[in-house]
Amino acid sequence: MVDRRPIGVFDSGVGGLSVLRALQAEMPQENYVYVADNGHAPYGERDDEHVLKRSHAITDYLIAQHDIKALVVACNTATAAAIHLIRAAYTQIPIVGIEPALKPAAAQSKTGLVGVMATRSTLNSEKFHKLLESLHGAATFVLQPCDGLAISIERSDTQRIKALCKEYTAAMGAFGCATGEIDTLVLGCTHFTFASQELIALIGPDVTLLEGGAPVARQTRRLLEKPLQAADISSSGNEISNNPTIQFYSTGDTLLMDSAVRRWLGSESKTQPLSVG
Ligand code: DGL
Repeated sequence: MVDRRPIGVFDSGVGGLSVLRALQAEMPQENYVYVADNGHAPYGERDDEHVLKRSHAITDYLIAQHDIKALVVACNTATAAAIHLIRAAYTQIPIVGIEPALKPAAAQSKTGLVGVMATRSTLNSEKFHKLLESLHGAATFVLQPCDGLAISIERSDTQRIKALCKEYTAAMGAFGCATGEIDTLVLGCTHFTFASQELIALIGPDVTLLEGGAPVARQTRRLLEKPLQAADISSSGNEISNNPTIQFYSTGDTLLMDSAVRRWLGSESKTQPLSVG
């Protein structure tokens, strides 16, 4: 028995495509429904109440209209503000969130200095503070709220992306592999993966960039126990047969989504307009 119901994925916009890309790589046999809530973005500069309300409305929609078998909250800000309440409200499906990769960063840093770029809201959240406390003494974390960066990435505003990356990396201190330099940079917002090129140009290729897409994809796969998977996976890791689909919805600019899908996933899409909540 295979379960062909889709996996729901949402973010405030295009950022979650970095997670969807990882999910597709991990589970190419699955069907996906992606909601970009770009009509109500940025989440990271709004209050928790707004993010919680939006997370509820989108989860409701995905369960009621698409009968999703699992939900991936492909947004650090929504995970921090809402995942505990979403999980409590929707117990019928597994719900996976994403959080800044502080633990792997601390484990792999040689200089012991780790930069963290995230939204203001994520950095101020209780969930993030608990994570930080749990790693007390493991590394020194340099936290950088990145107002305006997610929305610039959303709009593909290259000039602004470059300017903000320059401002924020300069504010964090020196990057590199020598003592006293930041050798590991955590991208604590799913949008920021799409500024990797601009960041590497500023901080150099020797600094390790860490994002959370691949671990989230692995965790989702683990949670989808065998009966929930959409196809049998052969021992070589290839799916046996399938014709998977991805549907895209946007509460804002659908054309912007289509061009982001083309750019970041290398595929054509016809994003449908969506009004929820
Ligand atoms: N992509 C979201 C995250 O991972 C936030 C972007 C926004 O501020 O809307 O935090």
